[in-house]
Amino acid sequence: MALSKTTSQIDETLYSTFASRYARTSFPKFKMSENSIPKEAAYQIITDELMLDGNPRLNLASFVTTWMEPECDKLIMASINKNYVDMDEYPVTTELQNRCVNMIAHLFNAPFGDEETAVGVGTVGSSEAIMLAGLAFKRKWQNKMKAAGKPYDKPNIVTGANVQVCWEKFARYFEVELKEVKLRDGYYVMDPEKAVEMVDENTICVAAILGSTLNGEFEDVKRLNDLLTEKNNKMGWDIPIHVDAASGGFVAPFLYPELEWDFRLPLVKSINVSGHKYGLVYAGIGWVIWRSKEDLPDELIFHINYLGADQPTFTLNFSKGSSQVIAQYYQLIRLGREGYKSIMENCQGNAMVLKGGLEKTGRFNIVSKDKGVPLVAFSLKDSSRHSEFEVSDLLRRYGWIVPAYTMPPDAQHITVLRVVIREDFSRTLAERLVGDIEKVLHELDNQPARVCTKLANSEEAVGIDHAVVMKNAIEVQREITTAWKKLVADRKKTNGVC
Ligand SMILES: Cc1ncc(COP(=O)(O)O)c(C=O)c1O
Repeated sequence: MALSKTTSQIDETLYSTFASRYARTSFPKFKMSENSIPKEAAYQIITDELMLDGNPRLNLASFVTTWMEPECDKLIMASINKNYVDMDEYPVTTELQNRCVNMIAHLFNAPFGDEETAVGVGTVGSSEAIMLAGLAFKRKWQNKMKAAGKPYDKPNIVTGANVQVCWEKFARYFEVELKEVKLRDGYYVMDPEKAVEMVDENTICVAAILGSTLNGEFEDVKRLNDLLTEKNNKMGWDIPIHVDAASGGFVAPFLYPELEWDFRLPLVKSINVSGHKYGLVYAGIGWVIWRSKEDLPDELIFHINYLGADQPTFTLNFSKGSSQVIAQYYQLIRLGREGYKSIMENCQGNAMVLKGGLEKTGRFNIVSKDKGVPLVAFSLKDSSRHSEFEVSDLLRRYGWIVPAYTMPPDAQHITVLRVVIREDFSRTLAERLVGDIEKVLHELDNQPARVCTKLANSEEAVGIDHAVVMKNAIEVQREITTAWKKLVADRKKTNGVC
């Protein structure tokens, strides 16, 4: 993004390590150079810089897929030059997209007959999917209010304070008030009772999350559906529900098929899911599915024909790659229900191994639930001497990327570490991670003592009280923790957990 800071403002030139072989002169980092360089040089220079990125497989911060089968990698490379939007030129790719939409709609129990096709679209990710779903709700609500001769300039949406930043973006970009149900100690998802209390005539929808970003917990969509039905009946409203199943949409149908969270519930009108999370495709694919044609206002669909034939489109952008759509289709047919189920069971099993190992240390409270997205979120039982941020920081030294973040209001005093278990995270790695966390704790436990001893040795000579030195060392630790917490709180929801 053009607004990003560059890491180094001072050193504005790039040098090649292999200068004599590739490039003899340096070239500017932030301006386009006048001359071309050999392809080998460009490749080498970029590869060298990228060596300093973290290892994606050890990036436990992200839900996004970091491993696919080599056969699928081949398919991705083979379609890398196809623009998805050229539907008339690439009719097979379009057909594969439509098959994916239908398969996912069936998975979510959309009530359409054998003769009908599902209503949905492939997107760049859940964020775009959520913008589209939100726009459909907003437009439907506006149409209804206009028809009733009522004001339609103050739409709102009700969510938990735990929503991912894309909901805040939707609210701000499309001028919808975001009404957030606050969290509380020990309860880190949207309380359906409170959500229903907050709705009013201007509520375009209530958004529930199937798999909270913060602790993987499933929100109780069924209870929300029941309570909202009651309120709708009482007030004469028809407020609908959207389910943000970014991470849980490919988990729940396989691990908890009995759980009612999808189109089986009458008020659920649209659902988004990230194909690039537990849909098991590399970054760049999401899906939004509507319950029926009536739930997607026709005026939001554009019909273009200058590329060959009539193409209905409802997306925020136009051109994009086809590879991810093809990769999603590969996973759906390659794995089938059986394959997805066994991968999700394996992830869940590994999450339990990690959880057990962490509990055994006796140092952590587990804040994720066993029934949810396969992840383990945990916080220190005693954070008076070390913070979760320090644990996260030290784990980097062992190669692990484990984020630490504070919970949203009113649970912002709780800090958690979160490990997302993906398909490529094995049991051996889970055990290894527990071992490394133990080492980090040991190191941290000894840190204040080491500081104290050093200080004590040097200060003894000048007669300083040891108790005071000890207190200072602990105070320093506390200050560091407070500074970390402030830094993260300031960054709010853009703190890199996705
Ligand atoms: C619950 C939830 N919704 C939406 C998103 C945004 O998803 P995407 O990265 O696919 O745009 C995330 C990302 O982690 C998420 O966890």
